[in-house]
Amino acid sequence: MEEVRNPMKNLPTPKIYEQEYTYMPWGILISAVLDIIKARAPLGGGVIDLMCGTGYLLGEIKKSRSDLILEGIDKDNGFIHYAQKKHPTIPFRIANVLSWSPAGKYDLVLCTGALHHLPYADQIPFLEKIPACLTRDGFAILADTYIDDYSSGQERKQAAAKLGCEYLLATIENDAPKKITQAAVDILCNDVMGFEFKTSIEKMRPAFKRLFSKVEIKKTWPKSATAYGDYYCICRN
Ligand SMILES: C[S@@+](CC[C@H](N)C(=O)[O-])C[C@H]1O[C@@H](n2cnc3c(N)ncnc32)[C@H](O)[C@@H]1O
Repeated sequence: MEEVRNPMKNLPTPKIYEQEYTYMPWGILISAVLDIIKARAPLGGGVIDLMCGTGYLLGEIKKSRSDLILEGIDKDNGFIHYAQKKHPTIPFRIANVLSWSPAGKYDLVLCTGALHHLPYADQIPFLEKIPACLTRDGFAILADTYIDDYSSGQERKQAAAKLGCEYLLATIENDAPKKITQAAVDILCNDVMGFEFKTSIEKMRPAFKRLFSKVEIKKTWPKSATAYGDYYCICRN
């Protein structure tokens, strides 16, 4: 990829990040994931959230499923500090998922909005770690935003621009405050310029199929028949 200056390296602050759930389509995906966890996580099960960010998802799970044993890891010191302070009873740990090896097996492995933060070459090696850390009846929920499929660098940029514009429009339609609208602009910039690494669901399907025996894929946004959008994948060994 051509070399460009990266003005967008920083993630949003934890507070802005958590407001994004209210105004961006992303919030619909997280609610859908929460509903699945509430209904399907086994009683007293072990749950790990990989690249947990601010700990929002684990905090919400704790409110209605206090039986679950929760744990979150992320490489960002600031996010982990915020998560630990806000949710003192949930253990959060700084760890890079690329060098992480699971200490045991989990009934539920979560990874939301994070795969696209890993460079393309690291995404499948990261996914390859997941089957081994699931219990026999365990499952993983992998939720992320995907762009249209592409077959060249130019098509990737066009697909990222299209997704980014739709995300920005939806955020504006939801009457987002200035900082959240700015965050949506930043997402567009990061994706088009290749500072983050959104891919297409089509490119991930073969890996999901190879790694898991059962995969359920659902799109939560947009409602229209698009390939791009927010998806969750429930994966079982
Ligand atoms: C967009 S946030 C998603 C956070 C959270 N999962 C959510 O749904 O709100 C992406 C997170 O991935 C983390 N991350 C990126 N690369 C990572 C890596 N190699 N190891 C651990 N965490 C990583 C970032 O620090 C950031 O907190």
